[in-house]
Amino acid sequence: MLSLHWDKAISDDVLKLMSKDSFKLKDAVDKLGARRKSGELGFMDVTLSKEKATDIKETASWTRNNAKDLIVLGIGGSSLGGRTMISALTDRFSQSGTKVTFADNIDPDNFSELLNGLDLSSTVFNVISKSGSTAETMSQFLVIYKLLCDKLGKKEAIKRIILTTDPEKGALRPLVRSMGFKAFEVPQNIGGRFSVLTDVGLLPAAVAGLDIEALVKGANDIAKASQTSNIEENPVLKYAFIKHLHFLRGCNCSVIMPYSTKLADFSAWYVQLWAESLGKTGIGQTPILATGATDQHSQLQLFMEGPKDKFITFIGVEKSSTPVELPKFDVDVEAFSYLSGHTMHELIRAEMMSTERALAENNVPSIRIEVPQIDAYHIGALFMFFEVAVALTGEFLGINAFDQPGVELSKKYTYKMMGRKGY
Ligand code: PA5
Repeated sequence: MLSLHWDKAISDDVLKLMSKDSFKLKDAVDKLGARRKSGELGFMDVTLSKEKATDIKETASWTRNNAKDLIVLGIGGSSLGGRTMISALTDRFSQSGTKVTFADNIDPDNFSELLNGLDLSSTVFNVISKSGSTAETMSQFLVIYKLLCDKLGKKEAIKRIILTTDPEKGALRPLVRSMGFKAFEVPQNIGGRFSVLTDVGLLPAAVAGLDIEALVKGANDIAKASQTSNIEENPVLKYAFIKHLHFLRGCNCSVIMPYSTKLADFSAWYVQLWAESLGKTGIGQTPILATGATDQHSQLQLFMEGPKDKFITFIGVEKSSTPVELPKFDVDVEAFSYLSGHTMHELIRAEMMSTERALAENNVPSIRIEVPQIDAYHIGALFMFFEVAVALTGEFLGINAFDQPGVELSKKYTYKMMGRKGY
């Protein structure tokens, strides 16, 4: 399972504070538990019933048999989680089977390039929008529906578009009923950025051939372990509280730094989760995305010697399935011969621990989350780890982590500029 490490990177006085504040910890765990029990929050109770798993797998298998490409149209919480799973858990250089691509943004040039490269008669689209009114996603839906109708006819177009949306509300559900699109659900009590382990992420994951049961199991195991207020038994609570104590001491920036390119998209998912959930009422922690070892040659200088306002979360991967041996060279070159006989995996781990140590000596606090290996179970666990951590942090701060009122105004201006009635 996931484990926490910090060596000298957390000061003793913070650790003392942590053991003193058991009331605050219990309060946060209880409040979150009550919201969960009342049914208001569903993300800690993601389940994959046999019926649901069968529906997802059958649709995935139909997609694999009928499409070279699955294009996911969605943005924010309707895109980032799925993208993370695919990039972490599939081999993007020698992909076999249906290729899963996340269109995400509405850059017209990029979107056109994507469409131009597709054989529409061998493409399936998964339109994911809980509300059914997100302008970015709906503009893409309009384009691909017309293209498919023009090329393949309306009946085939409807067959090639799968809608993932609210089970009852929103603008897409009526289309499911009236036009007969195949549909999946975003549960009503799970918000976009907490929805990765629902149909939102699981359908694209299944099309990519990932083990969806293991993804959900990993998440469920962390959710279970997160119900106690005993900090020694609840690593998520420990992580969230240590980070919170540093926030109170001026760490206004939260750097996420996996030492793994496979987890680079996980950082993008984390950025949305942390920013959109906690950036409210004049407070919040600015998330900063970094990848180790790449960012040792970019942002590390700032982390070391810039403002002391950062708390760093390293993510380490204990075991690599392909560690890559570093062979001997023909001649002895002092500058790099020492590498021979080691593996690339040893090198990236040594760089992570050395960076952690160097930062600690420079009074930059950090925690390292160790993932035993990158597989579906541990990716599911990582998602749930941070979802619960953000929810607990919301409770510590008295912030509702589950809404995003600050994004509405710009949407309204867009509606107005694009001529939507009533704006
Ligand atoms: O976390 C959230 O709620 C948002 O990021 C949404 O996921 C995003 O705005 C997309 O919304 P929708 O699924 O309604 O299109």
